[in-house]
Amino acid sequence: MSTDRASTQARNARGVVPFQPYDPVLKSPYAHGTLVFAALRSDLDRPGLEAWLGKVDGLIQTLRASTDEDGARRATVAVGFGPTLFVNPTTALPRFGDIQPPAGFARLPSVPQGAPVSADVVFYLVATAEAEIARFIRGLADGHDVVSLALESGYKSRPDRDAFGYADGLRNARDTRNDVVFVDADRNPDEPAWAVRGTYLAYMCIRQNASSFDALSPEEQDRIVGRDRAGRRLDLQAGTDVRTEAGFTGDVPPVCSHVRKAGPRGGPHQDAAQIFRRGMPFYEVDANGQFGEGLQFVSFQASLDQFDVILNRWMFNSDFPTTGAGVDSLFGQGHASIERWGFYFVPPDIDGPIGTGMLKAPPVARPTKTGRVAVRKRVVDSNGNPSRGELGGFTFQVTKLDGTPVGAPFTTDSVGHAISEEIPAGDYQLVEVTVPPPLGAAAPTPFTLKNGQELVHVTNTAPAGANGY
Ligand code: HEM
Repeated sequence: MSTDRASTQARNARGVVPFQPYDPVLKSPYAHGTLVFAALRSDLDRPGLEAWLGKVDGLIQTLRASTDEDGARRATVAVGFGPTLFVNPTTALPRFGDIQPPAGFARLPSVPQGAPVSADVVFYLVATAEAEIARFIRGLADGHDVVSLALESGYKSRPDRDAFGYADGLRNARDTRNDVVFVDADRNPDEPAWAVRGTYLAYMCIRQNASSFDALSPEEQDRIVGRDRAGRRLDLQAGTDVRTEAGFTGDVPPVCSHVRKAGPRGGPHQDAAQIFRRGMPFYEVDANGQFGEGLQFVSFQASLDQFDVILNRWMFNSDFPTTGAGVDSLFGQGHASIERWGFYFVPPDIDGPIGTGMLKAPPVARPTKTGRVAVRKRVVDSNGNPSRGELGGFTFQVTKLDGTPVGAPFTTDSVGHAISEEIPAGDYQLVEVTVPPPLGAAAPTPFTLKNGQELVHVTNTAPAGANGY
């Protein structure tokens, strides 16, 4: 990792991944979860924000200090900042002066159903003693800075099961979890320095339709998920290790089953598109006295591109993994629907109060002798709209301006990201040498490498009617 951009001494954001081997809160079947969505008063100024973050930090420290008689923690919290903390939605101007927003907020993933939750800050609290959550929220509500709060709740079970009774979380990122979750200075050079080791929180309240699902036979239900309730993938023997499952072949499980749409594997670039899911099931009785349930979906990822690929390029793309496959059956057949959603950024853990790293002047970028170039790939149609085709498999070669190759070729993953090896600083061009058919190669992009990382956006335009693009 480049020392320049990590110079804030930040640590991985807290309250995000469970402590290993057994997290007394996040792995507890007795835990209760609450998502608190807070709106700050519109006239809060920058000193006011700084003071409020200091107060929040105090609440966090109190929450984390609470332990049971065996010394085990009782509660944990991840704090996420929404886009409206950075940009005033009415004026489109920076809300608190010159804070560089997280890069992913420049273009949020589209969400095919539901409506956004408006919140400046989200608190994802989980506790084995709900009184800790109550105390925390009471502290938040105290004073005049928070003008409104909205709550969503969920529960933990062990082993984790979704509301339809299926084992959940089986194929969650594990060995590579920190790489999947936390912003890295080299892999995510588009992010401001203060964001390194933070993470994006994607939230969706998803209602599950028990009456439509219960009307199906158990075999039909399994075909929608792609696994049986115990977690066996339908084409594999019981006891197969989920970590060593091979790629999908044939039509079992169906191409539109949830696991096949959300977790294709075997493709050369797809394993890079991962998220760390940490949602919770919920139940409620609504204002009309009707019972309902679903999933408080929460995922953490280093880039919102990872989430976008899984939701939009795969699950809701009716031509993935094969032409005419249909959208993910959970949603396509009406057994689940997204009602509310939001995207937030959880800042890294620093020595000062949470989030105050973004209020400091960014470190001065110093020239370095070597560095890497990172590519962000987009493919658009002839109208400039994003395509849903595969973003993996575009290979690049850095050359000097006279065409001499420098370093080895490097290839995008399914997230559309690629990173070169370390090369000397200098003036170069980036040449696209392999392009999935029927696309044509983008024109070479000149760039100068001088500060350790250089980010290059490369966009291809798909020809009209290009299948999958
Ligand atoms: C109510 C809605 C949903 C339900 C009931 C549900 C349930 C499940 C279940 C039972 C599994 C299989 C076990 C596992 O690997 O964890 C699974 C896997 C998965 N789900 Fe969902 N899920 C829902 C929504 C979503 C959404 C909205 C996303 C992403 C945006 C998503 C992403 C994934 C991923 C990435 C996997 C792992 C696939 C694999 O690698 O095999 N799920 N889900």
